[in-house]
Amino acid sequence: MAGLNAAAKKKIVSICDRYKNEETPLMMILSDIQNEYGYIPLEVQELVSDKTGISVAEIYGVVTFYSFFSLTPKGKYVIGCCLGTACYVKGAQAVLDAFSDELGIKAGGTTPDGMFTLDALRCLGACGIAPAVSINGKVYPKVAEKDVPSIIQSIKDNEAAPAPKAAEAAPAKAAKAPKKAKA
Ligand code: FES
Repeated sequence: MAGLNAAAKKKIVSICDRYKNEETPLMMILSDIQNEYGYIPLEVQELVSDKTGISVAEIYGVVTFYSFFSLTPKGKYVIGCCLGTACYVKGAQAVLDAFSDELGIKAGGTTPDGMFTLDALRCLGACGIAPAVSINGKVYPKVAEKDVPSIIQSIKDNEAAPAPKAAEAAPAKAAKAPKKAKA
């Protein structure tokens, strides 16, 4: 969405129009923009403000309050470490620090190659398996500091693995019937 081109502007205006009859449209508008573009920079917030009459200050407040929204593009893998109470008392801060050390970024940051974003989250709703970590929506249970390098490595290995060729991905053909023995 660099530079908010005409197509992006049109799309954002149409998202705003979609909810113009709603009493409180802001969360729906921002969710759709986040899903469509992966982030909501200031330029977009100004456009939403123009269209809805909601102040930029209010929009900025919402975007920065909820971890689902982002001001900058997120990485391909979004790692969310829960720092809610149940996770915190079971060592979640050390797990977050281990991800931070492993990736060389702080919470809220994205690696320069655009591969990983690290977020600190509030309760994921999985307190029974604390400390919980979510990676692109998949929840990892009882994550310990020592698990962190292997979690990152398995993602990197998956990325490096060649995509299956079409022929390999296709279902195996039925085995040929054995030739009849000559009389
Ligand atoms: S506090 Fe971490 S999942 Fe609830």
